Amino acid sequence: MPEKMSSQLKLEGDINISEKRKQWQDENIGKETAEILDEDSRYFIKQSLSSPCLNVLKSAKGAWIEDYEGRKYLDFHGNNVHQVGFGNQDVINAVKKQLNELSFCTRRYTNKIVIEFAKKIASLTPGNLNKMLFAPGGAEANSIAIKLARIVTGRYKTISMWDSFHGATLDTISIGGEAVFRKGIGPLSSGTEHVPPPDIHRRFMDIGKPEEWEILWAKYIEYILEKEGDIAAVISEPMRSTPYVPSKEYWQIVRKACDKYGALLIFDEIPHALGRTGQWFTCQNFDVTPDILVIGKGLGGGVFPIAAVIADEKLDVAGHIALGHFTHEKSTLGAAAGLAAINYIEKNKLVEHSRILGEYSLKKANEMMERHPLIGAVRGIGLFIGIELVKNRETREIAAEEAEEVMYRSLSKGVSFKLTMGNILTLTPSLVITKKEMDFALNAIEEAITEVENKMA
Ligand SMILES: Cc1ncc(COP(=O)(O)O)c(C=O)c1O
Repeated sequence: MPEKMSSQLKLEGDINISEKRKQWQDENIGKETAEILDEDSRYFIKQSLSSPCLNVLKSAKGAWIEDYEGRKYLDFHGNNVHQVGFGNQDVINAVKKQLNELSFCTRRYTNKIVIEFAKKIASLTPGNLNKMLFAPGGAEANSIAIKLARIVTGRYKTISMWDSFHGATLDTISIGGEAVFRKGIGPLSSGTEHVPPPDIHRRFMDIGKPEEWEILWAKYIEYILEKEGDIAAVISEPMRSTPYVPSKEYWQIVRKACDKYGALLIFDEIPHALGRTGQWFTCQNFDVTPDILVIGKGLGGGVFPIAAVIADEKLDVAGHIALGHFTHEKSTLGAAAGLAAINYIEKNKLVEHSRILGEYSLKKANEMMERHPLIGAVRGIGLFIGIELVKNRETREIAAEEAEEVMYRSLSKGVSFKLTMGNILTLTPSLVITKKEMDFALNAIEEAITEVENKMA
């Protein structure tokens, strides 16, 4: 891989071909695990960020995963499917029951459980977000959202953000803004304008005060909406998974501008809806309701792939074309898993737990920042926390090597998480995590940071 390419890719996620990964594997992976990994490589196509794989899993329960050699890790990544914890018994029982009743629903038919599921989701969503379609994954659901916006507005252009991710299909990498998915792939969808994300921590131009920075970009979106005049939709996560947490004002400006220029606002909440941010839906933190809301990942209770595109009732105008048409679109198993997951979240007050434990954890991470110059910023909402590592707080130079080392050292101490943008420790635990487990994880991460700082000194 050309040097320039590899360093660019490294600034997005923790790539799977790094020296530090190899070193961690050399020190931790036993003979039998290595044989399984070799076999995996023998049959799976190589791709960045996953195959070849890091390690082999044997089991996953609650907030924890266990590898083939019996080591346990608190999973602060979990692909964000693990709101209700891995192997959640309510979800598993619901799926087993459903398997015995109706395991698949042929197109042209509906079924009671899928309607019950949709009704439950509609009872939780804000505004008039009451009509939906299910899809087998987040990318497909975003794809439906884009198509619906095209039909509703009679336009095709979109505005989305650099550094964003909305799925790995061709249309979703077109609106996405990460090189690791876009580079060298060839022509992408046309009409996909990109704007800088509202990241006050990493401003690429030294203009304006940090707090004015995001407002500048909200106004830039308004400017494009006016100049182009025919944008179908602005599509973004309300809070980027990195995470950046924009102000309410940012989204309120964008919401008003969309209304003024006839564009729809689509929020992709695939990784963080259903409680992670201390609200059922992330947009509720910003007092802004989108025209279309897309959710997924944990919607299937961590066992079944299902996503939903949920539109304002007034957008139900595309009956003449097939918007989704996915084989598993009225999935009985997905609905059973999802309904059980939502009921579990309600029964165990996980939304509230996420808010309270999130506030506690964010405070602890901020205190950690006072002790460690390597930490340049801490941010997040609920159980969605980012710790950004910098070489120097003044210059904000990214500490990518150090972040990778902290990640592998934390892994050896029993905490698994991923990096985003190369230098952000991204912490998204299961919502069933206890305060004691959170303390264990934050202490392990702090120990790892101390070790790396001492090594640097
Ligand atoms: C913000 C966002 N949108 C979309 C997706 C794609 O979801 P899926 O992998 O289910 O296609 C992801 C997955 O990581 C995501 O984080």
